[in-house]
Amino acid sequence: MKAVIPAAGLGTRFLPYTKAQPKEMIPLVDKPAIQFVVEEAVASGMREILIVTGRTKRAIEDHFDTNVELDNHLEKSGRPTALEDLKALMSAARIMYVRQPSPLGLGDAVLRAAPFVGDEAFGVLLGDDITVDPPCSAVLKAAHERLGGSAIALQQVPRDQIGRYGMAVGKEVEPGVIRLEDMIEKPTPAQVRSTLATIGRYVLTPEIFARLRATEPGKGGEIQLTDGIRSLIKKEDVYGVLYRGRRFDVGDKVGWLGANLELAMEREDLRDGLKEVLDRIRKKA
Ligand code: UTP
Repeated sequence: MKAVIPAAGLGTRFLPYTKAQPKEMIPLVDKPAIQFVVEEAVASGMREILIVTGRTKRAIEDHFDTNVELDNHLEKSGRPTALEDLKALMSAARIMYVRQPSPLGLGDAVLRAAPFVGDEAFGVLLGDDITVDPPCSAVLKAAHERLGGSAIALQQVPRDQIGRYGMAVGKEVEPGVIRLEDMIEKPTPAQVRSTLATIGRYVLTPEIFARLRATEPGKGGEIQLTDGIRSLIKKEDVYGVLYRGRRFDVGDKVGWLGANLELAMEREDLRDGLKEVLDRIRKKA
């Protein structure tokens, strides 16, 4: 199965950082968010990957390319293994790029992938969410292989957070799986009873492209993927699959800071030093 990673958004929530840097290159400790996403795709059996980029996104292509000067330097300085994981990832994945000329929405970015995808179901992974253990795309792929149709990852969120997500409404068809009847983008708590939020991982059938082409631009002149999926629901089965693994919401500043702390605490080389800093901050607060 192929994977598409849309990474052409303006990332305004992280300005000024994102003025000349891709939001997707924001680090989690020392690894850019997009590397986690490519790792997830490969771990889910999606080795052919299309990254949709735009202006100011050159750093993404450079990251997944060789840097001869750096390799020579690491070799001489006795640290030839510093980039080992990334090199293994680069040889496992076949990464291609396409540009979205203007940021006309996530739906428009996904449409750019139509010639790459062809006529098979494909994964879509957004860099705002990092999922680990198990890779969320592997869970969706398995659901698609079992049930057919499209599959969208969901997580339970507290009621006071539903205004931040696309919320899913549907009927349970097996434990942890619903057949979607509707999706409501960033509703008020009074608008929906569901607490099942979409979390930026999808396996979609190629029918989505026809649906997106027929979708009128919505808020801000953008073509929304959610509108395309709402239209898809009327034509085919779309399942919402509860993802029970670990997810970091790195599109949100508090989420991103928390993810850094959590991941750093799991590293032996950083844990003790970080604990000291946190103790000091706690005493001051
Ligand atoms: P977001 O809604 O998070 O938008 O996009 P954004 O522009 O990146 O960030 P903010 O809201 O301004 O801070 C969700 C995903 O869709 C991609 C983004 O790169 C992100 O991965 N996207 C969005 C595109 O590829 N193209 C677009 O036109 C819009």
